[in-house]
Amino acid sequence: MKALITGGAGFIGSHIADSLVKNGDAVVVVDNLQTGKLANLPSRVTFYREDITQPLLRGIFCREQPEVVFHQAAQVSVPKSVADPKLDVRINVLGAINVLEAAKASGVRKVIFASSAAVYGEPQYLPIDEAHPIAPQTPYGLAKHTVERYLALYRELYGLRYTVLRYANVYGPRQDGGGEGGVVAIFAQRLSAGLVPTVFGSGEQTRDFVFVGDVAAANLAAIAQADGQVLNISTQKAISVNALYVKMAALWGVTLPAGKGPAREGDIQHSILNNAKACRKLSWAPRWSLDSGLEMLRQELR
Ligand SMILES: NC(=O)c1ccc[n+]([C@@H]2O[C@H](COP(=O)([O-])OP(=O)(O)OC[C@H]3O[C@@H](n4cnc5c(N)ncnc54)[C@H](O)[C@@H]3O)[C@@H](O)[C@H]2O)c1
Repeated sequence: MKALITGGAGFIGSHIADSLVKNGDAVVVVDNLQTGKLANLPSRVTFYREDITQPLLRGIFCREQPEVVFHQAAQVSVPKSVADPKLDVRINVLGAINVLEAAKASGVRKVIFASSAAVYGEPQYLPIDEAHPIAPQTPYGLAKHTVERYLALYRELYGLRYTVLRYANVYGPRQDGGGEGGVVAIFAQRLSAGLVPTVFGSGEQTRDFVFVGDVAAANLAAIAQADGQVLNISTQKAISVNALYVKMAALWGVTLPAGKGPAREGDIQHSILNNAKACRKLSWAPRWSLDSGLEMLRQELR
């Protein structure tokens, strides 16, 4: 099988690339290296340094003829989407439509799309399932949902198959701390450098942290399953930022308490995604506990 990963040099995309290469699949990566790094890529991939918004993308798709596309490339900063919604729409909506047009032109069988818990906005109940109202509170969340709708439309209009995966907060090796799920990466980087991290607000806000290896596994499971489905990818377990710090400080052997900072505007208090549908439709389950994922991360950073 030949797969193309947009954003394949990034955090999550490169783990998808690793898993595909391990399975013996041919992998093509398109990435403009905005936040991704060549060093993240396994050796046996074909790499194009290209922007997903550019017309040249279609030529790459037609030359490479991938069967499956994992669309991971995005402007990943929520605050940046608020500060510059036009930039966010250019990459996260128009770029995605450019990917869909290239997929359509080159006969791609299926697109698997990296969406986000950000589409739900402030939770009305927990854990959030896929039937929860959609009420994004940021341009980033709105863009992700817009692309979900385009995927449904392209299936109706052109028969393009798809699965939407709405990720919770993803963590693991190669995360740079600038994206959505950055808190684990920021804590890990600071603790590894002997610096004390800052907890913003009360620290009692909760998150559902899913290990990147489990996210890559869900992507691979979607190649042959869950057509036309929208699925939460999460552990369905919440932990507060304070408790996360205690856990990580203990693992890193740090005894100092975290620093305190002001609450961040627009920070959602509690987030936990129901993953029952993904477990059912993908015959998948998260395998990594937070403890084992954090330990893996600590070893990688040593
Ligand atoms: N990390 C999380 O917790 C999380 C949560 C929900 C959703 N997501 C989504 O998962 C996907 C992957 O995120 P990540 O955390 O791996 O971030 P990342 O920044 O590591 O990866 C994004 C990749 O896309 C590339 N890219 C950005 N703009 C591009 C463009 N215009 N053309 C080509 N390549 C471009 C970057 O260089 C990078 O390699 C994104 O779509 C993100 O929105 C991530």
